[in-house]
Amino acid sequence: MRWYYVKPHAAVSQYYLVTAAVIIAVCGSARSDTTGGPSFSPVDITVYYESLCGDSIQFVRNQLVPAYRDIGSFFTVNYIPYGKATHGKYVSNGVEKWHFTCQHGPQECYGNKAQACGINDILTNPERTKKQQDLVNFVGCVMQARNPSTAVPQCLQTIGMDTQHVSLVENCISSVAGDELLAAYGDKTLALQPSLSFVPTITVDKVYSQEDQMGALRNLTATVCKHIPEYNKPLNCSG
Ligand SMILES: *[C@@H]1O[C@H](CO)[C@@H](O)[C@H](O)[C@H]1NC(C)=O
Repeated sequence: MRWYYVKPHAAVSQYYLVTAAVIIAVCGSARSDTTGGPSFSPVDITVYYESLCGDSIQFVRNQLVPAYRDIGSFFTVNYIPYGKATHGKYVSNGVEKWHFTCQHGPQECYGNKAQACGINDILTNPERTKKQQDLVNFVGCVMQARNPSTAVPQCLQTIGMDTQHVSLVENCISSVAGDELLAAYGDKTLALQPSLSFVPTITVDKVYSQEDQMGALRNLTATVCKHIPEYNKPLNCSG
């Protein structure tokens, strides 16, 4: 028996508790061609995932990290740590507060927020120049940790973030700044067309297709390769 929250309408801030006897598998700079040929943009991969989802953990470990190792310069990844969650604002004693619910409970919301803060720091930190490499290392570290919801500070150290930035991220996690980042990821997730049904959901060049979704879960390298123009296909795409 599992409990999860269903938010019937984005604008309705009332949550219905629903029982489900069965868990469906819901949780389930452009690189230019310096040889003079036409330039192309890296394939855009966006991953909608959540911190305590087994399928998200497997995708990061078995697809994302290896694909980045094989053909990392041919794609960029956007990470959207939110998944099947809900968010809304309510007013308590005249103060507005964010409220989140997550498929795997409050720990997962905390973990998603922590990753949102870590990702934001990497993206905005001028000292981190290899942002894509940082992000794949960071998310790879967090999602493969024993407890992904609390692994963020340690993983930032692992990728070489200085202690000052680690404390900035810790402040973000425990402040409204983290709530705002997570809510923004929620808005991006709710804007998905068709709406998110499986976690992780993967879009290619901002578009969802069932073929690419299934393909990415099976072999992300091959799926990215499919979207690289013939003239630019790396050797790792054949095989
Ligand atoms: C994934 O696809 C790549 C590129 O086509 C191929 O080289 C690789 O062997 C595939 N991996 C698996 C596990 O099938």
